[in-house]
Amino acid sequence: MTTDVTKGAVAPAGGSGAGVDNVLEASGVTLRFGGLTSLDSVDLGMRRGEVLAVIGPNGAGKTSLFNSLTGVYKPQEGRITFLPKDGDNKELLGAKPHIVNRLGLARTFQNIRLFSALTALENVKIAAETRLKAGPVSIMLGLPNARRAERESDERAHRLLKFVGLESKLNEIAGSLSYGDQRSLEIARALATDPQVLLLDEPAAGTNPTEKLELEQLIRRINSELGVSVLLIEHDMRLVMSVADRVMVLNFGRKIAEGTPSEVQQHPAVIEAYLGASAPEEEVAAGAGQVVIAEQPGPVDESGANDGDSGANEASSDGESSDEASSDGESSDETAPDGSAPDEESGK
Ligand SMILES: Nc1ncnc2c1ncn2[C@@H]1O[C@H](COP(=O)(O)OP(=O)(O)OP(=O)(O)O)[C@@H](O)[C@H]1O
Ligand SMILES: [Mg+2]
Repeated sequence: MTTDVTKGAVAPAGGSGAGVDNVLEASGVTLRFGGLTSLDSVDLGMRRGEVLAVIGPNGAGKTSLFNSLTGVYKPQEGRITFLPKDGDNKELLGAKPHIVNRLGLARTFQNIRLFSALTALENVKIAAETRLKAGPVSIMLGLPNARRAERESDERAHRLLKFVGLESKLNEIAGSLSYGDQRSLEIARALATDPQVLLLDEPAAGTNPTEKLELEQLIRRINSELGVSVLLIEHDMRLVMSVADRVMVLNFGRKIAEGTPSEVQQHPAVIEAYLGASAPEEEVAAGAGQVVIAEQPGPVDESGANDGDSGANEASSDGESSDEASSDGESSDETAPDGSAPDEESGK
């Protein structure tokens, strides 16, 4: 059962309540893998301009939700609607990832995905080029509009790399960058596609404390300076509590709570989810879980030693190396996510 801890203050689940300006809405999203229900009738109402965090224990369905919102998975039930600034609402359920990206949603991945043999600049330029007007033929023939487009993508990539603090590493090979820099590069690449909504899947995983602070600032600047709404999956509760305007909590594929960070932090269902079903009621009632949530970042592997995987079942749980994912060009290092692979966009 969904518990809305900000009763009266939030939009009806998944809908755009009176006076609420949502950018993304989902209702009744249900995703099953055989007998396993990874998302169970999940509602989402993301407000334009907010930083909304999605938290929950491992296997709660957070990445599944991202994959459903971005077209990597097609849920069996539900609706997902993008409400862009221009007012021309778009149904996203069933749309391919590159279409979702072109509409205005960009994401990063729990497992970093970069063209590891290319430079930082090249990685971002490839994504920026998906927004160019020049078609493949004019690019091939080097026509003036193609040259202009190339210059624009170059300038755009430079600006974005500066924005994320990588201006001194433009020409470094992506694979040789530190873990934190690779995460920043992934963010720059997602931003290069000019999104209205940016989805970050565990951006702090594997980063060191200094990088975490930089990331916190970066998320704030993306939100306030670029005006991008941010949907953030994160296990680091200090980061969540500091940057999120609101938090929604998933457990076993269900939304169990939603509200401001402090409301969610004290919510009994959330405390129980993090402490485990065996938590004694008095302990939960006494708010012991608040400490747990605030101080224990959750069972994520932040060592960075294994490319940011947070669990042994990452490959399948992330859905990014499954057949479904690969059919959408999402599974290999050779294809940039978010529709940023040149061939996915070249027909336009
Ligand atoms: N492609 C898939 N095939 C089968 N089961 C899947 C697939 N993707 C996800 N699942 C299952 O759905 C459930 C939710 O997984 P998901 O990856 O969404 O969790 P999560 O909240 O992102 O966890 P984590 O914090 O560990 O990243 C898990 O039980 C997972 O095994
Ligand atoms: Mg995940």
